Amino acid sequence: MSGSGLDWSASRGGPLRGEIMVPGDKSVSHRAIMLASLADGVSRIDGFLEGEDARATEAIFRQLGVRIDTPAAGARTVHGVGIDGLRGSNAPLDCGNAGTGMRLLAGLLAGQRFDSVLVGDASLSKRPMRRVTGPLSEMGARIETAEGGLPPLRIHGGRPLRGRDFTLQVASAQVKSAILLAGLSADGETIVREPHPTRDYTERMLSAFGVGIEFSPGHVRLRGGQRLAATDIDVPADFSSAAFFLVAAALVPGSELRLRRVGMNPRRTGLLHVLRAMGADIREEHPGEQGGEPVADLVVRHAPLRGIEVPVAHVPDMIDEFPVLFVAAACAEGRTVVSGAAELRVKESDRIAAMAAGLRTLGVQVDETPDGATIHGTSAITGGSVASHGDHRIAMAFAVAAQVAVGEVHIADVANVATSFPGFDALARNLGFGLR
Ligand code: S3P
Repeated sequence: MSGSGLDWSASRGGPLRGEIMVPGDKSVSHRAIMLASLADGVSRIDGFLEGEDARATEAIFRQLGVRIDTPAAGARTVHGVGIDGLRGSNAPLDCGNAGTGMRLLAGLLAGQRFDSVLVGDASLSKRPMRRVTGPLSEMGARIETAEGGLPPLRIHGGRPLRGRDFTLQVASAQVKSAILLAGLSADGETIVREPHPTRDYTERMLSAFGVGIEFSPGHVRLRGGQRLAATDIDVPADFSSAAFFLVAAALVPGSELRLRRVGMNPRRTGLLHVLRAMGADIREEHPGEQGGEPVADLVVRHAPLRGIEVPVAHVPDMIDEFPVLFVAAACAEGRTVVSGAAELRVKESDRIAAMAAGLRTLGVQVDETPDGATIHGTSAITGGSVASHGDHRIAMAFAVAAQVAVGEVHIADVANVATSFPGFDALARNLGFGLR
């Protein structure tokens, strides 16, 4: 694995106390740029995630001829060009590390008049794309991949698309969203049925942009040929970023932490149910709504955790939270069993293998299975050198583990933390993390 040269030394700090607000939601930030660009009129985005993934998507829409202004950090004014107003680019469109960017763009660009090439970094270039190119081809798209269905994606423009009725095998919001975005420029109706409901941001946001769309958990239906009307989007704080501090405060004795205005979309909060079942003390206060999404303050206090069998039904609702759940499990009394989570093997890294290897280095017994792991909790996490595999969530999960370790944890290759959580290290240090 090529290293970024940026590493962390992390060690026990003090109890986590006080109040913080984590940055904007990554999934919502990507979609806000995409839909605002396709809309007729000017949209304002607030709470935009200033992370590399969302900025890569933003840069791509600039390259496609959309004017996007930055009136302030975390704010964007997007001058939408309409569903048929994007201009093709001769240069490849670089999605960076972002699977969401590439997969959603594949759907969005499949029905455009021009050709496009989507590329990504070393990690993204190893991630499976047939899950989107397959259904998009069934709609009439022509997309070439590298061998094995990997990026780059060469998307041929000027292809008429037809709506279809899809029953997906994998629960994936990215696949569903790619199909829906292609469905916008397809003839007739596009229907997606999911094996398990996934995050519904694309559906909610299309509706906010005035598109007629019917959706309920696990089912969505959309007619092609509709236009989007500009609207303002207020991005909630990212639950997945909050998750690192939820677990850290649960683990470190003496902690009491308030995470303000966290996005509480029920398709994202599976970790809350699981942590509570493990004994965590997490309260929701001041429930409200922000940009059409439920939000709440989360108040977490230290409490001892015990291992559980993670209900398979929660897996899609916490798919990005497993690295940090593995850390909670490593500190819990007894065993925690994760199953039904094979998708973790095709994220920014193979997250089952990466967490198992790192935790073993820190003295934790982990038995891997193809679709999960059994983590044997211990009261004696040790120091050691772990690899993040260039995966932002693995790096942050081990920074959390270090807060209860006896000894220093060296975490290699952490630059990609900036893809989803710029400023994590400063915020964590301010709260009392030992992190250099
Ligand atoms: C995302 C969907 C999930 C998630 C990713 C963001 C999205 O991926 O892991 O971080 O914004 O739609 P899958 O669709 O592959 O499950």
